[in-house]
Order: sequence, then structure tokens, then C-alpha cells
Amino acid sequence: MLTDFLTADHRVCDGLFAKAENAANDGDRDAARAAYAEFEAAMAQHLSIEESVLFPEFEARSGMAGGPTAVMRMEHEQIRAMMAQMRQALESGELDDFLGFGETLNILIQQHNMKEEQMLYPMCDRALADRAEALLERMQAH
Ligand SMILES: [Fe+2]
Repeated sequence: MLTDFLTADHRVCDGLFAKAENAANDGDRDAARAAYAEFEAAMAQHLSIEESVLFPEFEARSGMAGGPTAVMRMEHEQIRAMMAQMRQALESGELDDFLGFGETLNILIQQHNMKEEQMLYPMCDRALADRAEALLERMQAH
């Protein structure tokens, strides 16, 4: 199921985010930088899978281009903007700012993920049931 694959990917991103936060809490800049870079890469990959594979398929099938996926795309931009602020704080060595932005980002991501996991992904599973396997392959290869 698309829901299972994408939800598992959310948890991977959450784990990397927690790793970066923990390192920053310990005052370990190098470890925070390394973990944050991993988190950024995983998130970029996740957002890109949704925006270039999942959402277009759902939009084409459901005919809803201005509906839930438009909201999710907008939230992705908010997430990207907050991630950029965190990166800036990290690059200038401001671990307190990094952690402060992190709290906001974490709330944004958790609310966003909940909408996807409880609403959008199940809608995608229903709308795209006949091509779930091919879609999964494309998402994994993306
Ligand atoms: Fe998303």
C-alpha cells in the first residue's frame, strides 16, 4: 500500500530529525550538522517523491488539482522555508536558534504528516488501487 510505504518514510525522516536535535542539545555541532544533512536529504527526497510522482497521479485520476494536494504542496513550501532557517542557524553555529526553529518545524511536520497519513494517503490508495504496484516501484526508484 502507498500509505504504508510513505508513512514508513515519514518515520525515517522523524528519526533523522530527532538525531540532529539530540546532537544539538548535547552541544555537538559536528554531529548536529551531519545528522541534519541526512535529515534534509531524506526530506527533500520524500517531498520530491510526493510532488513529482504521487500528487500528479492522484490529481490526474481524481480530477482534483486544487484540492488536498494543493494544500500539501503549500505546506511543503512552509516546511522547506523552515528547514532553510534551521540550516542557516546551524551554519552560523547558533544551536539555540536551530533548536527553536526545530520546535516549530517539528509541529509543522507532525501536523502535515497526520493529514497525509490519515486522509491523503488513504485517498490515494483508493483512487490508485489498480496501479499501486507500478506507482510504488516508481516512488522507490525516484
Ligand atoms: Fe507531504
